Amino acid sequence: MATRLEGRFPDGFIWGSAAAAAQIEGAAAEGGKEDSIWDHFARQPLAIANGDTPAVAVDHYHRMPADVALMKELGLQSYRFSTSWARVKPGDRFVNAEGLDFYSRLVDELLEADILPWLTLYHWDLPQALQELGGWANRDTAFRFVDYAVAVHEKLGDRVRHWTTFNEPLCSSLIGYVGGEHAPGLTDPYAGLAALHHQHLAHGLATRQLRELSDDLQVGITLNLTNAVPNNPTDPVDIDAARRLDGLWNRMYLEPLLLGAYPADVLEDLREYDFERLVHDGDLETISAPIDFLGVNHYHDDNFSGHPLPEGHPPGKAPTARQGRSWFVGSEHVTSPTRGLPQTAMGWEVNPDGLRELLVRLTRTYDNLPPLYITENGAAYDDVVVDGRIDDVERWDYIRAHLWAVADAIEEGADVRGYFAWTFIDNFEWAWGYDKRFGIVHVDYETMERTPKLSALRYSQLIVATREPA
Ligand code: NOJ
Repeated sequence: MATRLEGRFPDGFIWGSAAAAAQIEGAAAEGGKEDSIWDHFARQPLAIANGDTPAVAVDHYHRMPADVALMKELGLQSYRFSTSWARVKPGDRFVNAEGLDFYSRLVDELLEADILPWLTLYHWDLPQALQELGGWANRDTAFRFVDYAVAVHEKLGDRVRHWTTFNEPLCSSLIGYVGGEHAPGLTDPYAGLAALHHQHLAHGLATRQLRELSDDLQVGITLNLTNAVPNNPTDPVDIDAARRLDGLWNRMYLEPLLLGAYPADVLEDLREYDFERLVHDGDLETISAPIDFLGVNHYHDDNFSGHPLPEGHPPGKAPTARQGRSWFVGSEHVTSPTRGLPQTAMGWEVNPDGLRELLVRLTRTYDNLPPLYITENGAAYDDVVVDGRIDDVERWDYIRAHLWAVADAIEEGADVRGYFAWTFIDNFEWAWGYDKRFGIVHVDYETMERTPKLSALRYSQLIVATREPA
């Protein structure tokens, strides 16, 4: 029985932290940037908690060098960030040198600090101008994405080796276009399914193009994956509810990428939407181009039942502005009862062993699974500042317990090569605005002062300790 977490990770394991452009940069209308769908969405009444917007966020655009210095101080080995399409190609019309320059300076700062840049091209902030042409529901957007990727590569391809095409396409397709709680805020199942397929296509086209431009890149994608657990494991109705959601949330993303086919049972579930009409000849071949890594974002499992919740039972997750839980299956058919586990401030159940289970299951299910990186894992809690300190014991317990789970999965054969804590710094948590804090570094939103929380200090010590002999 292992007693020391530090000694349980393979040589070369990457310890990092992550953030995303729209959540931290601010400077929403500066440096030539134009609206993204999140800038636009945030102006709609009731879209975001407390009427918050990403306009200023944590002002990272202006404070980037100091933020990188703090990463260095904490000993991060890698920083996972995203480029904003609306900054690089405002309105998707022309390449904005000033926007690209920001990312070029960021990459230089990181390299100077000996921090590996891990770049994501799409973390949900489509130029609003493209949304007006249908956004991801329009197949043409996939080809526009390739042009954008080429522009970023032209500037950064000499210094950035790790490229992620998409972050959590589930959120930027089904949640944004059907659930309505993310930008663009639509509730249109046809648009959502089109967005899903077109993002896959964009991933495949860009992967191919990036490889043509440089032959030494590591190109991958990040998916948010969960275990869909049947509430009563012997009840066929609950088992079917879990199958449906596992299909829609996990397998509709994993299988076209890894197997070159959409899962047959889900296509059957979606028959009335005629999903297959979206899939042109050759698309699946493009989409299933080999990837060098799969990023896994994991926060919680999902418990599903096919029965209505008993009277007075609390909802499975804290409701957001517009809850999109009933997509395609009808809320009367799928519910998400709580299981009495501890919850984070998001209302997400804490069950670290779920991460082990997920990683082992992926390893056993897909023969051609590429190396895995945990590209996000972390927790929101209601932090309190006492005498200038934030002793976020719960967050550190959460991270540490999940790291034990990753180490257990590695022992069971999962090829996991890195971990990125979500998130480096408190930030704009999408529909929740600034209300939810996931950072290991605290931000005082009045002064923008940054203070590493206890979790950051502990994480930093862990990184150092992994390099020391046992
Ligand atoms: C996943 C997303 O990629 C990230 O942007 C978000 O803040 C976290 N989940 C927490 O909800």
